[in-house]
Amino acid sequence: MSVRKILVTNALPYANGSIHLGHILGYIQADIWVRAMRSMGHDVTYVCADDAHGTAIMLRAEKDGIRPEMHIAAMQKEHEADFAAFNIAFDHYDSTHSDTNKNRVQEIYIKNREAGHIDVRPVTQLFDPKKNLFLSDRFIKGTCPKCKTEDQYGDSCEACGTTYNATELLDPRSTLSDATPIHKSSDHYFFKLPHFEQYLQQWTRDAGRLPVSIANKLDEWFEAGLADWDISRDAPYFGFEIPDAPNKFFYVWVDAPVGYMSSFENYIQSKRPDLSFNDYWKKDSTAEVYHFIGKDIVYFHALFWPAMLEGAGYRTPTTLSVNGFLTVNGQKMSKSRGTFINASTYTANLNPEQLRYYFASKLSNKVEDSDLNLEDFSQKVNSDLVGKVVNIASRCAKFINSSFNDTLSAQCAEPELVTQFIDAGQSIIQAYEAREFSTAIRQIMALADQANQYIDEKKPWALAKIEGNEQQVHDVCSVGLNLFRQLAVYLAPVLPQLANDVQAFFNLEDFNFASRTQILVNHPICKFTPLMQRVDKKAIEQMIEQSKDSLTTAQEPAAPEKTKTKKAAVKDATPAQDVISIDDFSKINLRVGRVLAAQTVDGSDKLLQLTVDLGEAEPRQIFSGIRERYAPEALVQKLVVVVANLAPRKMRFGISNGMVLCAGQGKNLSIISPDEHAQPGDVVS
Ligand code: MSP
Ligand code: ZN
Repeated sequence: MSVRKILVTNALPYANGSIHLGHILGYIQADIWVRAMRSMGHDVTYVCADDAHGTAIMLRAEKDGIRPEMHIAAMQKEHEADFAAFNIAFDHYDSTHSDTNKNRVQEIYIKNREAGHIDVRPVTQLFDPKKNLFLSDRFIKGTCPKCKTEDQYGDSCEACGTTYNATELLDPRSTLSDATPIHKSSDHYFFKLPHFEQYLQQWTRDAGRLPVSIANKLDEWFEAGLADWDISRDAPYFGFEIPDAPNKFFYVWVDAPVGYMSSFENYIQSKRPDLSFNDYWKKDSTAEVYHFIGKDIVYFHALFWPAMLEGAGYRTPTTLSVNGFLTVNGQKMSKSRGTFINASTYTANLNPEQLRYYFASKLSNKVEDSDLNLEDFSQKVNSDLVGKVVNIASRCAKFINSSFNDTLSAQCAEPELVTQFIDAGQSIIQAYEAREFSTAIRQIMALADQANQYIDEKKPWALAKIEGNEQQVHDVCSVGLNLFRQLAVYLAPVLPQLANDVQAFFNLEDFNFASRTQILVNHPICKFTPLMQRVDKKAIEQMIEQSKDSLTTAQEPAAPEKTKTKKAAVKDATPAQDVISIDDFSKINLRVGRVLAAQTVDGSDKLLQLTVDLGEAEPRQIFSGIRERYAPEALVQKLVVVVANLAPRKMRFGISNGMVLCAGQGKNLSIISPDEHAQPGDVVS
């Protein structure tokens, strides 16, 4: 076999939100493939990065009162921890907000410009005069020009399905400031995608480049004709400036895929000086580049990205591996149903390897949506992994441990059976290579059934009861463990943690696919310890419960839900939206409290857990998003103002019974504290 040099990437997750199980699907898919290809002996490099730029991230940081750099650094930390928890083992994880990426994107742009692929012309767009900002479609709402439904986004109407330009909306307003947008013109930079029409038509049809269904979809786009791509955004924008174009920034989707290159470049610079960038990226490179992406971002990866690379004289990706979308219990993930599950909520409750297994059992190289049915998940994991695979080892190991000095038999009593398991590997390995993981899993489970049948027939537990059968018991259990070892080697790309434990149990130096051909005889093993627990139904229920509010609470601690109240006000057509009556105000029970204790909250760098005396029989527990500004010890004995009749909020970390009032945000936040002569329980009016 010749060793293939492969660079694998995953889509770069946006730095404006947490990783959820939908994201995780594509990352698990790539990680399994990387591990399988390495197990075959190929030379695989696996990189990723946070996609750090864009308006959404800029506005999010602004809202939190922090600089975008701080926001993206915190998100990156969170994302890396989530991936690590799922054993998604990138060689390097970077950010698109790096100097390396800036240099590379500018270089690619200039090469395209020199080759005549860039154009400049004015574009008229809606502009928010209050925020001084051009508005993209999702920041504009108004009345549908066709059916006159109110409160529709700037690109299409949810009521009648019409698509339109934001400039056609009636009574448009900015969702950022509520101001009425004005029409304003400015110069935009365009990438001349039509220059690459013929090139791309061929490229997308090259063998192995894309799933066929995607290539067919692209044909529709070619028929409709390719259009110039607007690659610039006006300041203010969190991104990279376009060379020789003051106050113009690259649209986030220009520098995002370049992040694949720059993450790799930073990797070799910091950790692998023996690798060469050009070796992988120059036009005639023999290395392979695989991008794993979700189906929603095909357009960017199959058209813009290869065209930009071609225009700049670089090689293009070998293959785009495209995953379908994840549904949970047959439906779109939903916050109200508790099925919008964050990666960290899953790992807080359940074993990540079990999800890896479940996803693997569903994934093929076709672009099919996958459903995580939680009932099916626990049933499948319990029956396949716990009931079949791990069970083989626990049934056999105890005899070897207790009666045979932790050593496997000196002979293989069933060479044909073990050899059959070894030979079956060829087709399993092929399935992995072709990214047909569900096929691989089916074949592995068929072997597991066979191994269990063998043990059921031989009944070592019955043999052991009769004197004189020692050799037979030793032989049968040794065969059973040899079969189990084959299964663990095959499952290793999917279950790396389990494989590590099994490798240690068998005292083996190698656990790659090739290592399986050596049958273990007269071989020392360790004491057996349980390898996997059953899926606990209660843990699933708890995960769902926690997902019902993790989004509103964990991300926006103690912040009033501004957008929601505004929206409600607009719907009710209240004349003056921000004015409330004295009656409304008196519904809010504000009272003085004294902080008795304050502590940090594990798993949150925003929250502090406060114990507050409100003059009631029991002090209250309140979670407050003030950790960035206050050390816990600075708060003890401090007087605060508390919204005392706020409905208790269930958060990931416990229940919060009230809200502490603060002024400002982020680093400028300040707790509102009454004079010392106020008493806990005093009404604030
Ligand atoms: N930042 C872009 C990618 C830039 S690549 C140069 C992006 N980020 S994302 O955070 O929205 O999505 C990251 C990956 O997760 C994408 O591959 C996307 O298709 C995938 N998924 C997001 N939601 C998903 C599901 N519900 N199901 C499966 N994959 C999903 O897109
Ligand atoms: Zn409409």
